[in-house]
Order: sequence, then structure tokens, then C-alpha cells
Amino acid sequence: MEFPFAESYKIKMVETISRSSLSDREKWIKEAHYNLFNLKSEQVFIDLITDSGTGAMSDRQWSQMMLGDESYAGASSYYKLKDAVKDITGFEYFLPTHQGRAAENVLFSVLVKPGDFIPGNAHFDTTKGHIELRKAFAVDCTVDEASDPELIYPFKGNIDLNKLEKVLSSNPKEKIPFILLTITCNTSGGQPVSMQNIREVSQLAKKYDIPVVFDSARFAENAYFIKVREQGYAGRSIREIVREIFSYGDAMTMSSKKDAIVNMGGFIAMRNEEIFRQASLFNIMFEGFITYGGMSGRDMNALAQGLYEGTEFEYLDTRILQVAYLGDKLSSYNIPVIKPSGGHAIFVDSLKFLPHVPREEFPAQTLAIELYLEGGVRSVEIGTLLADRDPVTRENRFPKLEMIRLAIPRRVYTNNHMDYVAVALANVYERRNNIKRGVRIVKEAPILRHFTVELERL
Ligand code: F0G
Repeated sequence: MEFPFAESYKIKMVETISRSSLSDREKWIKEAHYNLFNLKSEQVFIDLITDSGTGAMSDRQWSQMMLGDESYAGASSYYKLKDAVKDITGFEYFLPTHQGRAAENVLFSVLVKPGDFIPGNAHFDTTKGHIELRKAFAVDCTVDEASDPELIYPFKGNIDLNKLEKVLSSNPKEKIPFILLTITCNTSGGQPVSMQNIREVSQLAKKYDIPVVFDSARFAENAYFIKVREQGYAGRSIREIVREIFSYGDAMTMSSKKDAIVNMGGFIAMRNEEIFRQASLFNIMFEGFITYGGMSGRDMNALAQGLYEGTEFEYLDTRILQVAYLGDKLSSYNIPVIKPSGGHAIFVDSLKFLPHVPREEFPAQTLAIELYLEGGVRSVEIGTLLADRDPVTRENRFPKLEMIRLAIPRRVYTNNHMDYVAVALANVYERRNNIKRGVRIVKEAPILRHFTVELERL
């Protein structure tokens, strides 16, 4: 017989989570103004709001915490992390930051000017935010395959080279500080970019003499997909694949809260010494001295260890198979999910799930509320609320896809929890025809409104 799925770790410490009653949840979600970000974590049974900073550290990472060197300058923890970053990515220069968006803030302070264009594959919202804050423009060049939720295509994170070349050839070189490759592409559903596409993007970038920067939050998960899906990589180790990926780029920003399995941290790494020197200045201003950059020594130690654990095949196999397990389970209940399953999350197509709820009434947010009410499961809306209003017309922007994201924290939940989530969603699906109305905005911020928006049920 073939062996079934089994985790590549055992559990040494546990944290109690509690179920609640429907009437409790009705009260709590009303008090939270129907915004799941406003819920207290103890009001949630299974928390899939994000896979960022929510992973479980290993015994080795915790032991590294005890060895942290808290010296302001030149801590051994800094050198340990610098060596790990060099070893895993190949980049010579490195700056620690407190998280991913801080890395973006520091690096973009050097590279991005007003009026610039930064082409890429569906930039993440903080990345886009840091580009737009500098009065520059993020140009999405993702392949069209990514916008068809049903289509099984192995690398839906890929860049369309024709779209990219159009941007490169129709603008002066000075207007394009870099091309940004997000691996895996969170916005399009945790979908990977193929090595071939990375190589071709790098060739095109060289032709136009433009640097390539990786947004690397989930680089190891991307490497896993290259290993299992791309011809010629089955026999290569994850670390070999990672080194090849980064060999095609000039710099990277990292949110260590994802693939490096720590609760807080980030970094920038690069090849160019001059950019490193300029970025160092902004690091000192925004983050802290260049040998800690907003991180404590113990956190840098745990991160160095996490970079090695996060790039082990056995761990990644456990991780990605668990995400796929949830995706398959939902499909078996006929729930419309984005295919194929992504690396860190399952995205549910809310327009298909709740066809009666008008788009003006936020069907994805409505589904996230219903899922919470059903089983105490917290997901996040990736739809019209997240898309904000058009900065000029102030009208709602309706993205092509209206989704909820079920992001799976690393090494935290078992497949029994996945079964529970799947049943909760299946129960909502069964009563979907009775859900005809959504929600209305009562209060909202001018940008990034989904974090603080207050809603009312219709
Ligand atoms: N880039 C990507 C692709 C991300 O997914 C995130 C964060 C960031 C950059 C920013 O990193 O949070 O450390 O500042 N994504 C989280 C999420 C918040 O839930 O997907 P950060």
C-alpha cells in the first residue's frame, strides 16, 4: 500500500483554542462592526486570516532564541543571520528590517522616484502602497491565465513577457527603476512563477539594462513548486533551486514572517554595494542600526535557523500537501475554489459561491462573515473592500475576482482542523440560496480601508 500523508514533525507544545456558540459569534461579529480584523483572537476557533507571523517555531528555533546576542552593534546574531542569508540566497549585502513592508520602505526610498513605473506580477498591497506613496505606478504584467479561476495552469504567477516588454520598450530606462517579481504571487492566489519565466524575465531585463528585484516572502514555496512541477528540477534540492532563482535577480525584499517561519522579521539582500550603502542610511533612519534593523538578537537567531528549516523539502512537502488537502476537500463539496491550490492559501470564488449578493454589497466579505458565524473560522476578504476606491473618481473598484482567502499558518493546525474548516464552508454552501443580501459601509478610511472599515448587515 502507498503511505498516506503524515506530517514531518511531532508536536512538543500546544495552545488551547475554544469553540463558541452561534449566539456568542453573532454578538461578537456585530460588536466588531462585521470586520473580522476587529475580532479578538479568543473569539476565533480556527484562524486563517493570514499565514504571516502565525507559524509555530521549532525546538531548534526556540533554542536559538536563548543564544541571541543583544549588542547594539556587531552582534553575533547579526553575523549568523548575514551568513545564513548569503548561504541560502547568494546575495552578498544584507540589511535586517522589522518586517517585509519595512524592507520595501527602505529599498524603495533608494530606488523609486515620482512618475516611475514598476512592472511586475500583481504586486502585493503594501508593495503597491509603497510604490504609490512615492507617486510611482505599479504595472501588473501577470499572465492572463491567472484570471481564470477554473484553469489548471502550473505557474499562474508568471509574467507575460509581451506585456512586460511593452512597458520596457515604451518608457525611458530612467523611468523603470526595477522589475518586481513576487514569488509566490500572493495576489493571484499564492501561485508560483516558473524558473523558465524567471530566467526569461531576467534576460529581458538585461536587454533593457533594468534590475530585477524579488519580493521573496514565499520563495521556498515557489521553489517547491518548481521542483515538483517544472521539467528538469525533480532531482534538484530546494536550496539549489533557491540559489538559481536568486541568481537571476539583483536584490530581494523579504517578509520573514512567511517562509522563514518566524513571528516577526524581514530583510533586504542585494548584489550592489552602492545601493547597499544608500539603503543603509534609510535603514538607520527608519529601522535601526544596520546590524539589527528593528530586530532583536534572539529574533535574528531564530530567523537564521528558520531560513534553513523553511528550505527543507520534507517540511515544504508537509506544508503544501496540507494546503492542497483543504483545497481538494472543498472541491469534493463542490465549493468553487481557485485552481490549482496555492502555496499558502486556498481562495474561494465568492461570486460563484454567493451569486445572489450584488457586488455593491460585498459578496466576499459577506461570505467571510457567514463562515465565521457558521464555525468560528476567520478568513480574509480579497475583493472590493481590499481594492479600495479609485483615487480620482472615489468609486468602488470591482476587481475581476471576488474571493475569500483561507491562509494556512505553518506547522500550526492538523488536517482535522482542515476537515472542520471544509465542513463549516460546506454548511454555508448548503444554505447559500438563502443568503441574498450583503453588507453596507458605515465608516471607512481613504486607503487600506479593509483593516478598519465598519459595516452593517443588510
Ligand atoms: N509581500 C508579500 C507577497 C506579502 O504577502 C506580504 C505580506 C508583504 C510583502 C509584506 O510583508 O507583512 O512582513 O510587512 N503579506 C501578509 C498576508 C500580510 O497576509 O498576506 P509584511
